[in-house]
Formats: sequence, structure tokens, C-alpha cells
Amino acid sequence: MEETLVLVKGDGVRRRLVGEIIRRIEAKSLDIDALKKMNVSRELAEEHYAEHREKPFFEELVEFITSTPVVAMRVRGEGAIKVMRTLMGSTNPAEAAPGTIRGDLALSLPDNLVHGSDSPESAQRELGLFFGQ
Ligand code: TYD
Ligand code: MG
Repeated sequence: MEETLVLVKGDGVRRRLVGEIIRRIEAKSLDIDALKKMNVSRELAEEHYAEHREKPFFEELVEFITSTPVVAMRVRGEGAIKVMRTLMGSTNPAEAAPGTIRGDLALSLPDNLVHGSDSPESAQRELGLFFGQ
């Protein structure tokens, strides 16, 4: 069984889409192993998005994720990492396919509602950051 970190980011919490996003995860038969609403410190945000440190959108991204609470989940199931990425849709909501979380519920960057780990290594690292070992 695989585990991945899913975040409902600030726009999702503000728009009260947490239930809708959880519904889609459960409907896919993935398990929500742990769940918490939390504030993301600047330190945690910079660590979580370390791979994007040199990108032009980094500062905006850190601002976005630290500005309002997020809902963090440990999601578990067969192929959970890739399955979750498929459920989420493409990074840019304008290009995300209908039927996906971003494709159905979001319009433009940076407000793309969700984060999902992109590889087994990222999942391990990010789950450690948000839920400890
Ligand atoms: P990335 O890890 O590339 O996307 P994903 O969330 O699909 O794994 O980027 C992290 C976040 O950075 C992304 O969810 C939204 C934001 N972002 C922008 O604001 N502008 C951009 O051009 C990109 C690529 C990402
Ligand atoms: Mg990513």
C-alpha cells in the first residue's frame, strides 16, 4: 500500500470545498488515514516547496500557502500517489481535464485547490514534514 500527502490549500478551505474533495478521494476507494486542519509556517512552506525555491512563482506560492489554514491528509491505497495526481488534474486549472478536482472546481493559478506528492520520495519527505515519522 502506498501513502501520499494531500493538502486542501487555502482556496479550497475558504470555498468550503474540503467535503467535496474528500468525497472524491473516498469515492475512488482511497483511505484517509490521518487528517488535520493547520496553519503552515513560512519555515514549513519553504521546506515543503524546496524544489521550487528558484522559480519565479516561489514567493507567491509561499504567501498563498501560509496565508490561510490548510487541511492536510495522509491518503493511502494501491498506487495512491499516481492515482491522487490523476484525480487532481493538471497543475494549471485552465488546462486540467473536466472530471478532475482542478478541472471541475478551479479556474486559474495559483488557486489550484490541492497539493499531492509527485513521487514515492516526495511522499515520504512531505509526510514526514506534515505528520512526522
Ligand atoms: P508544481 O509542483 O509544479 O505543481 P503541482 O502542485 O501540480 O505538483 O507547483 C507547485 C505549485 O506552485 C502549484 O500547485 C501552483 C504553483 N504554481 C504557480 O503558481 N505557477 C506556476 O507556473 C507553476 C508551475 C506552479
Ligand atoms: Mg508538485
